[in-house]
Amino acid sequence: MCGIVGYIGNKDAYPIILKGLKRLEYRGYDSAGIAIINGKLNIYKKRGKVSELEDYILGMDKKGTIGIGHTRWATHGEPNDRNAHPHHSQNRIFTIIHNGIIENYTHLKHSLKEQGYEFYSETDTEVLANLIEYIYTSQKVTAEIAVRLALLKVVGAYGLVVLCSEEPDKIIAARKSSPLVIGIGDNEYFLASDATPIIEYTDRVIYLNNDDIAIIKKEEMVLKNLKNDILQPNIEKIDLCISEIEKNGFDHFMLKEIFEQPRSIQDTFRGRISQEMNEIRLGGLYSVNDQLVHAKRIILIACGTSWHAALVGEYLFEDIARIPVEVEYASEFRYRNPLIGKEDVVIAISQSGETADTLAAIQLAKESGALVLGICNVVGSSISRETDAGVYTHAGPEIGVASTKAFTAQVTVLTMMAFMIGKEKGLVSDERMAILIKELYDIPSKIEQILKLNDEFKKIAGIYKHVTNALYLGRGVSFPVALEGALKLKEISYIHAEGYPAAEMKHGPIALIDENMPVIFIATKDKSYDKILSNIQEVKARNGAVIAIVTEGDDIISKMADHTIEIPEADEVLISLLAAVPLQLIAYHIAVMRGCNVDQPRNLAKSVTVE
Ligand code: G6P
Repeated sequence: MCGIVGYIGNKDAYPIILKGLKRLEYRGYDSAGIAIINGKLNIYKKRGKVSELEDYILGMDKKGTIGIGHTRWATHGEPNDRNAHPHHSQNRIFTIIHNGIIENYTHLKHSLKEQGYEFYSETDTEVLANLIEYIYTSQKVTAEIAVRLALLKVVGAYGLVVLCSEEPDKIIAARKSSPLVIGIGDNEYFLASDATPIIEYTDRVIYLNNDDIAIIKKEEMVLKNLKNDILQPNIEKIDLCISEIEKNGFDHFMLKEIFEQPRSIQDTFRGRISQEMNEIRLGGLYSVNDQLVHAKRIILIACGTSWHAALVGEYLFEDIARIPVEVEYASEFRYRNPLIGKEDVVIAISQSGETADTLAAIQLAKESGALVLGICNVVGSSISRETDAGVYTHAGPEIGVASTKAFTAQVTVLTMMAFMIGKEKGLVSDERMAILIKELYDIPSKIEQILKLNDEFKKIAGIYKHVTNALYLGRGVSFPVALEGALKLKEISYIHAEGYPAAEMKHGPIALIDENMPVIFIATKDKSYDKILSNIQEVKARNGAVIAIVTEGDDIISKMADHTIEIPEADEVLISLLAAVPLQLIAYHIAVMRGCNVDQPRNLAKSVTVE
């Protein structure tokens, strides 16, 4: 939540900052602002999207080679011009941008008010700006020391970038819990919440660690910690190209990402499954193999769509690896005093690798002595660094706020893990393994086949675009797919939608069914096929409209349902990879037809770095 960008060098900072903010807008889009130093410090900020800020400052003087920018997802104070970042201190000595939450801001604000400070915004960030200034002026220290001393008083999370008008040759950046990356150019440095604004200028980056402070001038950077020790920066090379973070001719990132799934799934299993060797190898788990195979219990923790992938994982681990699994919302887990033992394996699943609740849950699990693994998409992200070991999903950058390709990549990793453990435990025969590997190889082309039906999905979307409610039903491994389908529809089209296990329909949702409510069934041929047929009949008996996702060639459901979507046959454990795709596309088309902002739905953000 909230994207931050900074530049210091010899180029004009404004275009770099503006472009960076556009790349980070998925992190929050309530308001945006930029500050540039050019002799004096100019701050421009506006409620709304980055493009509105751009229009607002058109024609104004934006010259300067040092600047910072912020795109906001409001936490403290409504989205308006005043609460937008950057925030300056009372005497305008400091100007800061911040991603995160200062938890003890009320207490700090009170103390600062006693020292005569007044506040123009409702934000916690302005409190931090004033705290830095108060220390700077009262203790007569340098900007760097003032920032460090202020941060020692702060409880909370921050990705922070600071400009000081009295030391205008530097940027000071610091991190605790919220991400911050520094790109190293030629006599220039770039700062951003993730690497996407940086990659077109340099592939050399430093991911700041918790409690790091960087003091950056255009020709040099010094890295320290909060204790003032000088640190040796770990410079990494990033492997991302521009085309991966652009729309490439698609109308929306979400559509592009849905269509990328054949490739993203392939990238996720490439080099990890081998038909010749008939085995699955996950290099990131070598070091913890024994613990994993002998786990007494697996606890999967995640939020949002990743939590739905975890539910698929529960099914897979229990069915294939015969390990008891619990799936937990990270936010509930961390506050529940959960029972975690040393023989438990906790697996955190996260696209961004930055979700605050998931990170906090990881901390709790580590303190209990459990082995903690991560399944993350963003390389170098906080979760990937906080966990003992893990597996990257290799889906490539996901920019649409509604997660699509990350979900199928997570399920791909969970499937590989379940089979790898099952094989080691002697529960998966060579024959079963060979079938699975072959089936996994075929998934990308099966998804290609489904994507060819896009026009059909669009027609269905056209029929149901005005509904106010929708119900998604599935059984077994298709139940999480139903939840995911409902989430996709509600988050981007604002239609109320619920996912349920099909059999649970009779315990409540059936009361809602009438001719105005579409019921979307995932009804592929598996062991609960006959049961789901009865559920479809129950809906039809109440005049409900049925959209059914069925296995190719199913001529029973096609006679009962109002619309059938045929997907290729696949092993039952892989079906969620296929069934999710039509649901993503139907939600997408409905949202577009309703005029919704598909990539940036209202009130949402992609990377939820606050609790
Ligand atoms: C937000 C995003 C979702 C995502 C969830 C968990 O709500 O909008 O798309 O599923 O966070 O994020 P993570 O990055 O941890 O998977």
